[in-house]
Amino acid sequence: MTIRKNATLRVIEKRRSLRMYAPTPLDPDEKEAILHAAMRAPTAGAMMLYSIIEVQDQKLKDQLADTCDNQPFIATSPYVLLFLADYQRWMDLYTHAGCEARAAELGIQTRSPSEGDLILALMDALIAAQTAVIVAESLGIGSCYIGDITENWEVHKEMFDLPRYAFPAALLCFGRPAKKQPKKLVPRFDRKFIVYTDRYHRFSTEELNDHHLPFGMHSFEQREYQNGAQNVVQMNYLRKFTADFSLEMTRSVRAMLKNWSE
Ligand SMILES: Cc1cc2nc3c(=O)[nH]c(=O)nc-3n(C[C@H](O)[C@H](O)[C@H](O)COP(=O)(O)O)c2cc1C
Repeated sequence: MTIRKNATLRVIEKRRSLRMYAPTPLDPDEKEAILHAAMRAPTAGAMMLYSIIEVQDQKLKDQLADTCDNQPFIATSPYVLLFLADYQRWMDLYTHAGCEARAAELGIQTRSPSEGDLILALMDALIAAQTAVIVAESLGIGSCYIGDITENWEVHKEMFDLPRYAFPAALLCFGRPAKKQPKKLVPRFDRKFIVYTDRYHRFSTEELNDHHLPFGMHSFEQREYQNGAQNVVQMNYLRKFTADFSLEMTRSVRAMLKNWSE
C-alpha cells in the first residue's frame, strides 16, 4: 500500500532552510501559532524543561549575527527565537516550595541538576523548536537553525541574562522567503547509512565510498579543493570539524557544562 501524501507530509517534504527573508514582520496570529505549537510538543514528564526568548531588539539580533560565527542573515530575520534547555525555573520552583527542607526531613538526599537533566532538557527544547519549524512552514514561513548559538556562551549569558541552569539549545530565525525558492532540496544520504535494524552497523571503506553518491560523487574520489582537501570528506573535515567555529563551540560548551555541573 502506498500512502497518499497529506498536507503534513507535503510540508515536511518541501521544507528547506531559509536564509533570505522578506522584511515583512510576522503577524501576531502567526507568532501565536508558532509558539502554541512549540508548547504543544511532547515534553519529558510534562515539565516543559525549556524556555523560549523572543529576540525583538534589533541590537541583540545584530550582535547574534556576529557572535554566531558571523552570519549576517540572522540580523535580517523578522522573528528570532532562542530555545533554552532550562532547569532554572524548576530549581526555583523547588526552592520556593521548600523541597530541600522537606526532603531532608524525610531522609532523602538532595541534588543539583546533573548532566542527565541537561540532556533531557535539551531533548525537550529541541523537540519544541522543531515543532515550531514545521508549523511555521505550514503557514508559508521559512526558518533556519543556528547551531552556533552554543558558541560564545559568556557573551550570550550576558546578552540574555541567562541564569546558571539555562543552556542555549538552538536559535531559530523565521521569515517569509525574500524570493521564490528553487525546487531543488539539499539531498540526504541513502537510508542504508542512516537506518539500521536492531543494532548499530559500521561500514567498510568500500561501503563508505558510496556515502556521498546523492551529492554526485564517491566519498573518496580524488578532487582538488582550494583549501587543500583532496576529496569531499576531507573538505568536510577541514571546513567543519577542524574549523575555528568548531573549536570555539567546543570551548564554549565545555565552559557551559562546567558551570552547569560543578
Ligand atoms: C542543529 C542545526 C544547526 C544548524 N546551524 C546552522 C547555522 O548555523 N547556519 C546555517 O546557515 N544553517 C544552519 N543549519 C541548517 C543546515 O545547514 C541545513 O538544515 C542543512 O544544510 C540541510 O538543508 P535543509 O534544511 O535545507 O534541508 C543548522 C541545522 C541544524 C539542524
